[in-house]
Amino acid sequence: MSKKIKKVLAKKNNNKIVCLTAYSKNIAQILDKYCDMTLVGDSMANVLYGMKNTHKISLDTIIQHSISVRKGIKKSLLVVDMPKGSYKTPSEAKKNAKLIFKKTNCDAVKIESNNKNFKIIREIIKAKIPVMGHIGYTPQFKNRFKVEGKKKREAKKLIKESVSIEKAGAFSIVLECLTPSVAKEITKRLKIPTIGIGSSSHCDGQILVTDDILGLSGFYPKFVKRYVNLNTIIEKAVKKYSKDIKTKVFPNKKNFLYGKWKKNRFYKKNRKFL
Ligand code: KIV
Repeated sequence: MSKKIKKVLAKKNNNKIVCLTAYSKNIAQILDKYCDMTLVGDSMANVLYGMKNTHKISLDTIIQHSISVRKGIKKSLLVVDMPKGSYKTPSEAKKNAKLIFKKTNCDAVKIESNNKNFKIIREIIKAKIPVMGHIGYTPQFKNRFKVEGKKKREAKKLIKESVSIEKAGAFSIVLECLTPSVAKEITKRLKIPTIGIGSSSHCDGQILVTDDILGLSGFYPKFVKRYVNLNTIIEKAVKKYSKDIKTKVFPNKKNFLYGKWKKNRFYKKNRKFL
């Protein structure tokens, strides 16, 4: 088991585990300072590519974004989502997990549970690739959003599913949109850390989609806390840029690349970009 995974496991019952999603290097290098885990989520399908669900995002697209994210990461655990259709059979799952691992140099992969694919988790782990599970509202398998575990029978099923995922060897598990009591019970029963999204503070850690907390995605359900409204900030900057061009405020002499420019401080500081 890698040092990074051991570090995350050690936080169970001690410290809360901080996780966020990233799809590119620039964002990843900011997250890396504060997060224990960075996930290249298939949520990029909706958030970045404007698809109606996560079903059509390709393995290759996930790999390309993960390569970018990897470049921004030094210390956090890099987990890559396996997209829908990439783990239909144990042998396909193993082949694709190996491909993700090799091309992205990630630390683990995440697969959504359909309450049947425990053998697939075991098979990926046999190939020495750590796996994170994911239960509750699993967008790859469920078309309708709902809070999971309200009914007693449903709660029991979720608890059993989480235990099976732990038994299969997963090092951690995402609990998405579970009732607080089910999240609490699973967190108590499992030795592996639970990472909640819309599943209360009872989980060992929390994850959210970064674009949601930054106010970029336009998706702000109750379980999301929006820390800043980047949409408005970016719009203001772009509006100013547009005005500057039209009024010829930009570019001005300071931005011209001629004459005595090699002597100025800007050139000296930025020569590698020029
Ligand atoms: O794809 C994703 O971003 C996720 C998180 C929301 C857990 O699976």
